Amino acid sequence: MLKIGVLVSGGGTNFQAIIDAIDAGILKDTKIVTLVSSNPNAYALQRAKKHHIDAICIRKKDYETDELYQTALVEHMQAKGVELVVMAGFMVVIGSLFIQAFENRIMNIHPSLIPSFCGNGYYGLKVHEAALEKGVKVTGATVHFVTEQTDAGPIIMQKAVSVLEGDTPEQLQKRVMEEAEWKILPASIQLFAHNRLKVIGNHVKIL
Ligand code: GAR
Repeated sequence: MLKIGVLVSGGGTNFQAIIDAIDAGILKDTKIVTLVSSNPNAYALQRAKKHHIDAICIRKKDYETDELYQTALVEHMQAKGVELVVMAGFMVVIGSLFIQAFENRIMNIHPSLIPSFCGNGYYGLKVHEAALEKGVKVTGATVHFVTEQTDAGPIIMQKAVSVLEGDTPEQLQKRVMEEAEWKILPASIQLFAHNRLKVIGNHVKIL
């Protein structure tokens, strides 16, 4: 049974998609052992409570240094026996101490087809605003392993979504979530749980 720890900052619809996939038997051999929110008001914390999942808020601003914050995150994940960390709408740029502690064991979902509209400053609705501003006809979502360069780690899975005439950023965000994010995140976790992801350099080979 793969033990996962989920990091969130907001609504937690991707977190919910993982819960639902486990409940539906689509995502097998996986257990969510803890939810960590960077925000005390994140609705994701209510979702955890409803599903009796261990949850905690760990805020960067409560620590004197970034190193102490990262150490607290690592210690929490290790204490819970986490084997895979899933960033599901986590809006904090995480440092090397945490990334090295979980090398090739941190997944992130990003709401665009990387390498488009990613990197520092591209998060949440801003990604969809940038896609509409550019006028792309296709966007989507990407699941990748987290490395020290923001949104540049080995790509696990991507799914394309059409941009429709007259889309607002909110409409596009909703469609990208429904058609791509909520599907490829549980699917990527399933591959990891079954030891089917092999990282070779900056690529992922699906076995
Ligand atoms: C999702 O669209 C996720 O891809 C994005 O934030 C949203 C969180 O929604 N993540 C990023 O932009 C990370 N760079 P959720 O809390 O409902 O899952």
